[in-house]
Amino acid sequence: MDKQAGLVGGPPRIVPPAMMASKRPRLDTMRPLPNGPGLHSRPLVALLDGRDCAIEMPILKDVATVAFCDAQSTSEIHEKVLNEAVGALMWHTISLTKEDLEKFKALRIIVRIGSGIDNIDVKAAGDLKIAVCNVPGYGVEEVADTTMCLILNLYRRTYWLANMVREGKKFTGPEQVREAAQGCARIRGDTLGIVGLGRIGSAVALRAKAFGFNVTFYDPYLPDGIEKSLGLTRVYTLQELLYQSDCVSLHCTLNEHNSHLINEFTIKQMRPGAFLVNTARGALVDENALAVALKNGNIRAAALDVHENEPYNPFQGPLKDAPNLICTPHAAYYSDASSNELREMAATEIRRAITGRIPDILRNCVNKEYFITDSYGESGGVNGTTPYYVPVHSTTHEPVPPGPPPPTSHVTAAIVAPPPQHMPPAVPVSGRASPPNGPLPSGPPPGSRDTTSPP
Ligand SMILES: NC(=O)c1ccc[n+]([C@@H]2O[C@H](COP(=O)([O-])OP(=O)(O)OC[C@H]3O[C@@H](n4cnc5c(N)ncnc54)[C@H](O)[C@@H]3O)[C@@H](O)[C@H]2O)c1
Repeated sequence: MDKQAGLVGGPPRIVPPAMMASKRPRLDTMRPLPNGPGLHSRPLVALLDGRDCAIEMPILKDVATVAFCDAQSTSEIHEKVLNEAVGALMWHTISLTKEDLEKFKALRIIVRIGSGIDNIDVKAAGDLKIAVCNVPGYGVEEVADTTMCLILNLYRRTYWLANMVREGKKFTGPEQVREAAQGCARIRGDTLGIVGLGRIGSAVALRAKAFGFNVTFYDPYLPDGIEKSLGLTRVYTLQELLYQSDCVSLHCTLNEHNSHLINEFTIKQMRPGAFLVNTARGALVDENALAVALKNGNIRAAALDVHENEPYNPFQGPLKDAPNLICTPHAAYYSDASSNELREMAATEIRRAITGRIPDILRNCVNKEYFITDSYGESGGVNGTTPYYVPVHSTTHEPVPPGPPPPTSHVTAAIVAPPPQHMPPAVPVSGRASPPNGPLPSGPPPGSRDTTSPP
């Protein structure tokens, strides 16, 4: 498809000339631009791998021009965005390696619409002076509830029993029930082993206790004492956790040390016939090894919300014939409320970057340590201005107050100028899903990918 097609009607007018240089301006050499009405237009913020900006627009429209790319790789992103976007929002359906990041010439901030940052090279971003932020807490309850739902299904076999009923199986007496429900297990007194006791792991632990599980966890990165606050049992090796657990639930972040944490070797350390649940990241489990273990019964049943290859295809890959497996489509995080909250939080982080000082103003910057320079205090918001609360040319660095700038600020006046009449609220800048010709859409088109993209 013609990549230029989305620009029919003219590309968005966006960043100030200082940002249009082909080389990225260094944070420690950037000088604040003078502020004032009409001195420069608003910065460009691009949603990289989606088109629906309906929630983001009201939050950003007075301080930025928002564009969507609907791209699955940087090769699909229009050069206008690569050259001029100072902010990027992204779901998990695009990856940004070092080479990808180097294509962006003006980028100052990336916000992941989600918590996992395993699809961004955060160190490379830091080296390029790009702040990376995530939205860590938005769907904790949903993922924890989904995890419990999957655990309950493995123990009570509800999913399989419901399917039998739907397929017309008749349950005329206790024999049929026994036959169909064979393998249903009692929860009380069993041990649930949690790998990674972060936000979601602890939310699962609290829920599981109410069902009668003895909860044990393994998390080598936490200080001593948390087991006491939450009333849990702590073990200090994965082997010990696998050895003790009747059901293992994965809640660690994916990092360079724990890919295929559950593999042929560690499966042998699990109790024979244990259950496995993964709502964290697909690459934590070697699906070849899991398929073998499900077939030979070493793992009695498993439930996966996340997969080595997503979107998951049940008709392909090692797990296609595996018995006793429940798969959901990386949707554990989703509820209408959490999805809206997630997008609002991501857009608000971009807004903070535009109106304040990076990185001080950012609430969830994950790579601060890589890009702070001695003189980073000279950097400003992504629009190249000094933060609104610092008088222009001020040399003092006061703490950053939260929230939007006061309406009387002269800098605000520059930022909140209404969009030019010809400018639509969200501008497509990749042709992938855009019509080949015709006017620019003024909002998300019908059938656009929307809030259901997983984090
Ligand atoms: N399925 C979904 O829709 C969905 C939604 C949100 C988050 N997630 C995933 O859930 C997981 C947990 O998210 P969170 O917000 O609770 O993260 P978190 O950062 O709060 O907690 C992760 C914990 O894992 C621990 N950890 C890291 N490596 C470990 C290892 N090798 N062994 C044991 N512990 C280890 C860390 O110390 C930390 O305490 C992440 O993988 C995240 O990507 C999935």
